[in-house]
Parts: sequence; C-alpha cells; structure tokens
Amino acid sequence: MQTLHVELGDRRYPIFIGSHLNINELLLPYITGHQVMIVTNDTVEKLYANTYQQALQALGKTVKLCVLRDGEKYKNLENLNLIFDALLQAGFNRDCTVLALGGGVIGDMAGFAAASFQRGVNFIQVPTTLLSQVDSSVGGKTGINHPLGKNMIGAFKQPSVVFADMAQLKSLPPRELSAGLAEIIKYALLGDIEFLAWLEMHMDGLIQGDEALLAEAVYRSCAHKARIVANDEKEHGERALLNLGHTFGHAIESYLGYGVWLHGEAIATGMVMAADLSCQMGWISEADLIRTKVIFQRAQLPIACPPIPLEQFLEYMVHDKKVLNGQLRLILMKGVGQAVITKEFNLEAMKQAIVNNQLKE
Ligand code: NAD
Ligand code: GLY
Repeated sequence: MQTLHVELGDRRYPIFIGSHLNINELLLPYITGHQVMIVTNDTVEKLYANTYQQALQALGKTVKLCVLRDGEKYKNLENLNLIFDALLQAGFNRDCTVLALGGGVIGDMAGFAAASFQRGVNFIQVPTTLLSQVDSSVGGKTGINHPLGKNMIGAFKQPSVVFADMAQLKSLPPRELSAGLAEIIKYALLGDIEFLAWLEMHMDGLIQGDEALLAEAVYRSCAHKARIVANDEKEHGERALLNLGHTFGHAIESYLGYGVWLHGEAIATGMVMAADLSCQMGWISEADLIRTKVIFQRAQLPIACPPIPLEQFLEYMVHDKKVLNGQLRLILMKGVGQAVITKEFNLEAMKQAIVNNQLKE
C-alpha cells in the first residue's frame, strides 16, 4: 500500500492506494461521528456496497445506503435531491459522514451533497473507476450538470480521505479502464516525460489490468494532482493545466451527446488535437505528435472523432469554462511533458488541428 497526502493545511488528507485495503485500519479513523450514508449507484451497489456497509456496521456505525441510478444523465438536481431526502429521512445530523462509493458521477454528486447538507458534513471518497481514482476523487471539485452545461453547479469540497482500492477495478469494463488511462496519460503529457516513458514501457500490462502496475500509475498520477491542487486549490492558475485536451474534448462530447463517447475517450482525441496545434506552432516535433497518438492508440483510445461541422465544433468550444473575458484560452504543449495555458495561438492552425483529427466520411 502507498500513501500520498494532499497538503491543504488543516484540511490535509491522505490518499491510500493499494489492493484489498483494510477498511478498519484506514477508513474508520476518518469517520468522525456515528452515522454514515453510503452514496452509490445501482451497478456499484451490487458489487461493493455490502463490504463497506457490513464492515462499518460491525464497527458500531449506523450505516444507510442511498442508491442512485447509474449514468451521467442522472447527475442532476433531481437526483442530488434524493441524497438530501435519504439523509433527512434517516435523521442524520451535522456530524454524519457521506461516503461516495463509485465513479466520478457518484463522487461529484455525493461531494456536492456533503458540501451543502447542513452547510457541510464529513466526506469520504471511495473511487471505484480508474478515472475517479486518478482524477475526480482528488482535489475537491464536486457538482452536478445543468441542461445548459456540464458541471455548471457545484462547490469545492475536499474529502477527509481517498481510499483507492485496485482490487475493485477488476470488474471495470475495458472501455472504462481505457477512459481512466486517458487521464493518466494526460499527467505524463502535461508535466512528466519520464512518466510517459514508463507508460510506454508498461501499457500492455496496464491494459490487461495488472494491479501492481495500475497502483503505480494511480500513485504517480495522484502525486501530480495532489501537488497541483495544493498549489492552486481554486484554479486561479496552474490547476487549469489539468484540462489539457478538455476544450476540444468537451466539444466532441457535447456534439455527440453525453454518454455516446466516454469523457476519457473525448479528451484523448482532444489531447491529440492540442498536440497537433502545438506541432503546427512549432512547439513540439512531428515525432512527438506521432508519439502522442501512439500512446493513446495503445491504450485503446480513439485519436480521431466522427466528422463534426467546424462551425458547430467552434461554437461548443467557446462555451468552455476556460473562456475568460470573451477570449478562448487553450492548454497546449511547449514540449512533451510541458503544458502551458495560453491565448497566444493561431486560430487557423487550431481549425486545422480539429479538421486533421476527424474521421473522413
Ligand atoms: P462513472 O461514474 O459514470 O462510472 C463509469 C461506469 O462504471 C458507470 O456505469 C459505473 O456504474 C461503472 N462502475 C464504477 N465502478 C465500477 C467497478 N468497480 N466495476 C464495474 N463498473 C463500475 O464515470 P467516471 O468515468 O468514473 O467519472 C466521470 C464523471 O466524473 C463525469 O461526470 C465527470 O464530469 C466527472 N469528473 C470529475 C472530476 C472532478 O475533478 N471532480 C474530474 C474528472 C471527471
Ligand atoms: N479534473 C480537473 C481538476 O480537478 O481540476
């Protein structure tokens, strides 16, 4: 087992990474009161809810389950309200704990509920997808979607502990594993060329679900995220680098309709577009652009999106949260492993990067 810390002063918290983590030893100390609401979905419930419910009940806790429907389309106000209903119906008070058991959808919703129930209660993240282990469970961004925009309503709510158990990835569908690998590759491309070389060496094992390799990849990814969040919790600067490929990716996700492509798939192609633009700007070489495409292909991720009319693609891009004072800012690569946030890019080259990385009809 390996441990990292997100250094946020008196809100400092650990990330435990390993296989078959010990609930009694590692989770119990972070449950301050007696009441625990496990928020999960109807897929993860069947797989893992019993383990946590029984272990915590055996330790004397009052444990209730709130089971939401599985899917990004349920990440909305109506379903958030079901968490408040469950907490109130169970008579939970301010010293209760909300425990998110699931992927990023559950983590984001349960976290937002924990941030607002009785103005804030203890929150624990038990991420069960690779994507949530390396990204959404760390850093405190929580929230829900609005019909007019993804993740538009939310709050910062740091958990008191993140409990990332590799054994729980065994049941994850291969497509979801690849989506998580996209976020892992992101950390390498934005700031760690040595990690990129490590991923190139071990991609076959990672794709096959080798737990030791996955634990190492999660550890290295979370180390990057923990450092960036500690420096810039509320995203006034450096944290925006974590959105490499996301402006392009969100346009793909929005055009295709949420859920058609997984988020990790869309940002993989988005990162290829960002690399293509960086290459056209002369910031990375052709060889580095090819290297970027190959690592995504080896992770079984798409590197080109279906044809999307350019006007519509651009329309979706300008709705991105990184538009500041009407100006689009992009995360690009000044070198492999060296991302920057910039508004200094050539618009025609950006359009070309989008066109270059679409499937031909
Ligand atoms: P998800 O939560 O929808 O999970 C993907 C699928 O895997 C679901 O069907 C889920 O039920 C299933 N699943 C979960 N764990 C499983 C397991 N162990 N075995 C089998 N199936 C399992 O998707 P995700 O990719 O985990 O997260 C995406 C969400 O995270 C999006 O809503 C995105 O906006 C959000 N996100 C948030 C942040 C953040 O910083 N808060 C960062 C990145 C993404
Ligand atoms: N996933 C981007 C962030 O946490 O800032």
